[in-house]
Amino acid sequence: MSTEPAAARPDLPGVPPPPPLGETALRPGTFADTVVFVTGGGTGLGLAIAAEFARLGATLVIASRDPAHLEAGERHLTGIGARVVTVACDIRDADAVAAAFDRAVETVGLPEVLVNNAAANFPVPAEDMSPNAWRTVVDITLNGTFLCCREFGRRHLAAGTPAVIVNIGASYAWTGGPGFAHSAAAKAGVKNLTETLAVEWGPYGIRVNGLVPGLMPHEDMTADIRGNLDRTADKDPCQPALRVGRPRELGWAATFLASPYARFISGHTLVVDGANWQRRTLTNPPVVTVRDQMGLGPFDPEATRRR
Ligand code: HXC
Ligand code: NAP
Repeated sequence: MSTEPAAARPDLPGVPPPPPLGETALRPGTFADTVVFVTGGGTGLGLAIAAEFARLGATLVIASRDPAHLEAGERHLTGIGARVVTVACDIRDADAVAAAFDRAVETVGLPEVLVNNAAANFPVPAEDMSPNAWRTVVDITLNGTFLCCREFGRRHLAAGTPAVIVNIGASYAWTGGPGFAHSAAAKAGVKNLTETLAVEWGPYGIRVNGLVPGLMPHEDMTADIRGNLDRTADKDPCQPALRVGRPRELGWAATFLASPYARFISGHTLVVDGANWQRRTLTNPPVVTVRDQMGLGPFDPEATRRR
């Protein structure tokens, strides 16, 4: 029996569903003897990416803050047959990032692939955002990504070994993201960092690419993000593809970017979203403010005076 949802529009085909979970485009064993380090690899899209590397024979190191996330990720990946190392690490902390790579080196060797997937986000109108809310999202999403790139890059420069970085982004890096000013600015920084590092480290054999998911719902989404999604009545008809993305579609793209078949691809950010980010309409629908979309009342200067 198909597990795919019913068609969003009976009169239009939309983009067909992807091949089933478990299939791989790359040859089995493509990443045998390769260690892949995934930040935020215990949940959601990070886990889906780690799973596709696992299916292709990789050893995984997954790093994040919450031991429960790491345990769940380890269970899932060992179920696929992968060797897995978990490391508790807050990517905002440079010493913790260095310690996480030390642990990887001691246990399974220096990772050849780094996937910077960990990020932070919640919807909030810009005028309501506290300095700490802004700092927290930028610190995790942009600064944390930089710290992981730096640690990984330093080790490969010292060893003289080629390597691959895949930075997970978001399409509002190009367009702006109403309701997500902090995350959109941080992801724009990640895209720009990707381009800089690809040039700086190309001569050392380190490729750096970005990878952007479209809307890919999954059961690990935080309450903040899930609540935002729940404001849209039906996700599939709201996408040009007439369906949302499946996490494995991001995983397949990540394994391709890290594979030998992408050796001349660097400094690029690949968007996997069924063209949603390029969406424009023939006639403009009425503008609805972020406050209205979130069901918030009018801006209250008193409530934000000390934030
Ligand atoms: C307004 C908020 C808020 C909210 C937190 N803050 N949630 N402000 N609205 N919903 C404020 C807090 O009040 C605080 O500011 C500051 O943010 C830091 O909050 P903490 O809880 O102390 O931070 P911390 O424990 O470090 O947790 C970080 C977090 C949390 C971002 C708040 O949600 C988290 O751990 N997220 C990680 C996972 C995640 O975000 N995944 C989403 C990725 S999805 P004050 O001023 O009070 O001190 C994604 C793209 C989705 O990126 C695309 C959309 C479809
Ligand atoms: P998620 O399940 O909430 O994953 C976020 C991960 O980041 C968690 O595993 C979390 O683990 C980790 N993390 C957060 N802060 C961290 C920190 N300070 N240090 C270390 N790890 C930290 O979200 P997701 O939907 O899978 O998102 C994955 C990536 O895709 C993100 O980069 C996101 O911006 C991007 N994205 C997702 C979508 C989507 O539709 N899902 C759309 C566009 C872009 P801990 O809590 O254990 O630390």
